[in-house]
Amino acid sequence: MKKKLIGLLMILGIGFGQQVRADEGMWPLFLISQLQDSMQARGLQLSAEDIYSINKACIKDAVVRLMSKQNRMFCTGEIISQQGLFLTNHHCGYGAIQELSTNEDNILTNGFWAKNQAEERPANFNIGLLAKVEDVTSMIMDSLPSGDDEAARAKAVAAMVKSVSAKLKEALGADKEMYVIEVVPFWAGNKYLAMYYQVFQDIRLVGTPPENIGKFGGETDNWMWPRHTCDISIFRIYADASNNPAKYSKDNKPYAPKYYFPINIQGPQEKSYAMILGYPGRTQRYTFSDGIKYYSDKERPKRVKVRRDILDIYEEYMHKDPKIKLMYADKFAGLSNYWKKFMGEADALKKLNIYERRKDEENKFSAWVKANNKTKYSEVISTYSEAYAKVDKIGLYGVYLQDGISNSQPMVFAMGMGKLEELLKDKSKKEEAKKEAAAMAADLDADFKEYYEPIEKKVLASVLMHLVEDLDNSALPASLIEMANKHKKNYTAMAEEMWKKSIFVSKEKFSRFLNSPSLKTLQKDPIYKVTNGYITEITGKMQPEMNKINSQLGKANRLFQAGVMEMSPNRLLTPDANGTMRMTYGRVLPYNGKDATFFKEFTTSRGVIEKYAPGDIEFDAPARLIDMMKKKDFGQYADKDGELHACFLTDNDITGGNSGSPVINGKGELIGTAFDGNWEAIASDFAFEPQFQRTICVDIRYTLFILDKFGGAGHLLNEMKIIR
Ligand code: ARG
Repeated sequence: MKKKLIGLLMILGIGFGQQVRADEGMWPLFLISQLQDSMQARGLQLSAEDIYSINKACIKDAVVRLMSKQNRMFCTGEIISQQGLFLTNHHCGYGAIQELSTNEDNILTNGFWAKNQAEERPANFNIGLLAKVEDVTSMIMDSLPSGDDEAARAKAVAAMVKSVSAKLKEALGADKEMYVIEVVPFWAGNKYLAMYYQVFQDIRLVGTPPENIGKFGGETDNWMWPRHTCDISIFRIYADASNNPAKYSKDNKPYAPKYYFPINIQGPQEKSYAMILGYPGRTQRYTFSDGIKYYSDKERPKRVKVRRDILDIYEEYMHKDPKIKLMYADKFAGLSNYWKKFMGEADALKKLNIYERRKDEENKFSAWVKANNKTKYSEVISTYSEAYAKVDKIGLYGVYLQDGISNSQPMVFAMGMGKLEELLKDKSKKEEAKKEAAAMAADLDADFKEYYEPIEKKVLASVLMHLVEDLDNSALPASLIEMANKHKKNYTAMAEEMWKKSIFVSKEKFSRFLNSPSLKTLQKDPIYKVTNGYITEITGKMQPEMNKINSQLGKANRLFQAGVMEMSPNRLLTPDANGTMRMTYGRVLPYNGKDATFFKEFTTSRGVIEKYAPGDIEFDAPARLIDMMKKKDFGQYADKDGELHACFLTDNDITGGNSGSPVINGKGELIGTAFDGNWEAIASDFAFEPQFQRTICVDIRYTLFILDKFGGAGHLLNEMKIIR
């Protein structure tokens, strides 16, 4: 026992006298064989091979990567039957569910349960299954130019990443159409791995609770504990006759997975083992101290304001009209989710003294570099400082492009006109220009599906206001400043006038333009002038400076992380999240949120009844559900204490992208679905706080209760393996 403990301490790099830390870490799969002892000491009854093996079917084969139709990853899911059935969060299925909803058949509001496979509905996203991982570090690094030119190095890396991905894909031969290969840096470019995903395109919605169950508590409860949301939706993967990926076809069959999760409905106990596998998107746990300051004092507060103003505009109309509510539901949820997170981060970074703590670590690093004469790392700190001084000056221009301009639909249309303008300029390319315009015209119905003019006009005014009022005017396009001055900074009037003259504000006007595109019309369009002006100012004037920042940060990050590993060779340094599959292990655990406040590790239906507020936008719930809860009609889903447990906490380390991840007990059985983090650790992307960082999970028994007893879809249980 003792021996084991020492081994464990060595692995975690914990010296005696230091406090034993909870299990920070979104561990890459290739490291988990090294963690087997410490996982088993926590209560894991399986081997590392059972979780991740390159030779046999294992747990990782049941973990699903949700990807857009363009294969951009956004969430996680878990396969729970031999017929490709998988669970994910309601907020992950949200976009697809909204798209399948109409004003007449509003399944977002009412919920939906397919009675049989024929009733399942095509959902507009792909999923990926991790098929293979290959270390390609030497393929990328060996041919890099020597010398100090970081920009040249970065360019060479990018080129190598591209060519290696292409080469690996080519090597798949006839199978290559089925796979997406992503070559990804770990530890800021100290290692490169190629991830092979088998991508399935025929995904169908099987069931979802109504929104007032799946998003119960709304924005008020979001990022908070105690929680009572059944944040789940359920889909199925379809494959062709050979069980391979295929485009949607009614002849496709449910996919037979290599592995699927058995489900344990005995209920987790306090302190029992809990482990999560999934796809965390991005963390920045090694951010330099000045960067922390930039985020907490400037970047986050600005983003919060810009987003809040847009959200207020959405809300004004969404509350008035259910049609608008459905139309803007997904945009609202996405914008609001990170509005709240950014607000919490700005505050938490300060409260938790992250800046001071980083400074401390950096000072230690500098002292080590000096004492050991590690010249390789001698410029890391000064490079960081220089880079962040520049970020502080010009960083916001990029932020306002992301959170401002990109949230105004007419401006987004205007941003997409670059290629057409180039073609229109060249008289010999008239036919090509026409073709380009026709292709855009074909997308117009989809482009304007989530578009309501009164909202968009106000959003435009708000975005213009923030650009002019918040940013250094000398760097903004002259046309924008002139217009603002002409209207004496009355942005409503300014937007009104632009609206009258622009081709981007309605489907009719835009379509008229695309039917006979003219360079003159485009170039004098006021929204085009401002948007295009902003982009050219940024990409033109600021690009060299931005490139420099990126090279400096790239280099400093890579060297700093390499240096820290060299400085503490016994410490297994967890790499920042990068959209690849990770494992985090720990326990079901309560916490002390603040002075005199103890948070129990689970919630029950009692809390749903307590929070229930008929007619409220966030806390309404189906009366039938409340009735069932009052009668305590929970059947096999009741806990030993007689209650229906709704959600529970673990001390696992997750972030955005992990949403929908399987929460697994020590035997590898599914006990819940992860869906959120808690407020006290809202800055966890920057720093892990072992004493109160928690993952919020839907108890699998609440999921099955809603599916079976409330939703009447009990037939799905026949596909599952339930451990009672
Ligand atoms: N905070 C959750 C996450 O980032 C998303 C919750 C979505 N719900 C909402 N009310 N916007 O995974």
